[in-house]
Amino acid sequence: MSRKWHSVSKACANIALAKYWGKVDVLLNLPAVPSISMTLDGLVTETKLRVDPSLDTDVVELDGRVATPAEAKRVVALLDDIRRRAKRKEFAHVVSANRFPTAAGLASSASGFAALAAAADRGYQLGASERVLSAVARQASASAARSIYGGFVELPAGKPGKKSLAAKPIAPADHWDLRIVVAQAAKGPKKVGSTEGMERSRHTSPFYDAWVEKAPAITKTIRTALKKRDLDTLGAAMEQSTMAFHSCAMTASPGILYWQPATIAALHTVRALRDDRGISVWATMDAGPHVKALCHADDARKVRRALRETPGVLETLVAAPGPGVSVR
Ligand code: DP6
Repeated sequence: MSRKWHSVSKACANIALAKYWGKVDVLLNLPAVPSISMTLDGLVTETKLRVDPSLDTDVVELDGRVATPAEAKRVVALLDDIRRRAKRKEFAHVVSANRFPTAAGLASSASGFAALAAAADRGYQLGASERVLSAVARQASASAARSIYGGFVELPAGKPGKKSLAAKPIAPADHWDLRIVVAQAAKGPKKVGSTEGMERSRHTSPFYDAWVEKAPAITKTIRTALKKRDLDTLGAAMEQSTMAFHSCAMTASPGILYWQPATIAALHTVRALRDDRGISVWATMDAGPHVKALCHADDARKVRRALRETPGVLETLVAAPGPGVSVR
């Protein structure tokens, strides 16, 4: 049997400027709100895949270890989707590794499932369009739909029962020379995963309906500001989107608090850079404690230095707009 890989793919992580939080359909994994992201250069997941007729089950390795049953289940569901579309039955050996700098402290499901969709598509010789790959990745993890594309990307809200939702690129990576400065605020994995956090927010937060109602207008402001390269408007709306979704999580029952002391300290650093030094820099956080500051490329050094000196911040890194998924 040949040990050759049938495909090797790469996908970058992304950071949401307009946040996705909440689902209209959990089974189909359809987001309740539209979101917009920037794909992040250098924060890459590499996935190798071999279709192997001698296997009687899929074999999944993540970062040099065998995947847990919960991890493998999501991977196998995506492989099943690709096999169904390609009318193939053989199982696959999948080896996936995050080439993230340790400072990232970032979730890898977006880059991971985008890379997996591309590797499986090539491995099973499906030849799907990027749009189909985005829809396949979205089913596994909605933010992964956005990592299929480079630059700036939108994932519209889903409609209940309408299955094939995909992201779409709204501007290429060279549209705007922005940077994300990541301030790592704690070590270790987050305690409440985003899927669980979203569902708990939906069922129990008194703020959830208001968030779902308001999110499209925030996203529209972000889309328009992105097209006009208006960072002050985009940044203010991004912070509102961030605070609104974290408010939903905090006011769920039991409440979910992703922030650590260093999160608050870094938020104050970002505000001080704006208020005292006139730098256009804006903060966002995902379902975790790390602060990601958005600024012009020219300001990234100053922003990074200030965040590095912030009490409790462990490490920092800078990422530029990055490319979409690639496969060979
Ligand atoms: C806070 O895409 O990880 O990072 O679809 O349940 O896998 P699932 O959720 P996921 O959620 C990401 C949530 C977020 C905001 C965002 O990236 O838009």
